[in-house]
Amino acid sequence: ASTLGASAAQTGRYFGAAVAAHRLGDATYTGILNREFDMVTAENEMKMDATEPNRNQFSYGNADRIVNHARSQGKRVRGHTLAWHSQQPGWMRGMEGSALRSALVNHISKVAAYYRGKIYTWDVVNEAFADGGSGGRRDSNLQRTGNDWIEVAFRTARAADPGAKLCYNDYSIEDWSAAKTQGVYRMVRDFKSRGVPIDCVGLQAHFGTGIPGSFQTTLQNFASLGVDVQITELDIAGSGAQQADNYRRVTQACLAVARCNGITTWGIRDTDSWRYPGVSPLLFDGAGNKKPAYTAVLNALNAR
Ligand code: G3I
Repeated sequence: ASTLGASAAQTGRYFGAAVAAHRLGDATYTGILNREFDMVTAENEMKMDATEPNRNQFSYGNADRIVNHARSQGKRVRGHTLAWHSQQPGWMRGMEGSALRSALVNHISKVAAYYRGKIYTWDVVNEAFADGGSGGRRDSNLQRTGNDWIEVAFRTARAADPGAKLCYNDYSIEDWSAAKTQGVYRMVRDFKSRGVPIDCVGLQAHFGTGIPGSFQTTLQNFASLGVDVQITELDIAGSGAQQADNYRRVTQACLAVARCNGITTWGIRDTDSWRYPGVSPLLFDGAGNKKPAYTAVLNALNAR
């Protein structure tokens, strides 16, 4: 097949991009989106500060622009994200204890119910594990409401939209030997053993110029717990043949794991990336031309 989405679909997978509502009027951007991708993630518009700017007053304008565009083009949507320590609205940042827990549950219930039936997968909880060697939870106002906050978030999301797959999403969990990877693995194993509703693990995959040699092992090990795995925010530093080769490796790792059912790049053109201008990590250059990395991904998808 000749596009990323159609090529991924040959093996039952999707190929997505993070999209910013304010770029939808850019014809080059939207042209590539419509042509190449069959899954859409809102880059910022479904985060807590965007959807609940004032307590219990919800705001879906920009998120709806993305969801409506995607659906009108026959594309599915990954929801990102219901609960995160970052990008909380001002009113929530200073909250704690049972009041914060109630506000969190209310937020998840309302947002997931509003989009009920329209979301393929929700990133229910984002980035809740600590960096470094502890393998434990990240300290945050949400974590300080009690260690059970993550499972409460998942149960709340399931009740509000029973048809959506529910993901735990994080970065730096691609290397199997990392303490953070092990910490997330233990949580997912525990959730599966106790019947906490979790369907998938999102590995963000913001890479430098090297891909961990264990990446495919990590995908397989999570999948073996009985969850899907998705590459949710892919971008890779470097350029030219080296960048292309790394994109090929990541694509092949996903294709080699039956339950790795989709890849999303975190933006479309290099100039749309959160890492630009320091890094030009995506599949299209600033003018919208296909890079060597694009061809490497397309060929890998079609080799299966
Ligand atoms: O919308 C305001 C605008 O009104 C204001 O004029 C401007 C001035 O700085 O800021 C705009 O908000 C920015 C927003 O992106 C929209 O462009 C924020 O400052 C900026 O912090 C925000 O950055 C986003 C970042 O998450 C926030 O943590 C990036 O676009 C987004 O790509 C990035 O995405 C995250 C994922 O959600 C989670 N994983 C890591 C990933 C990369 O950091």
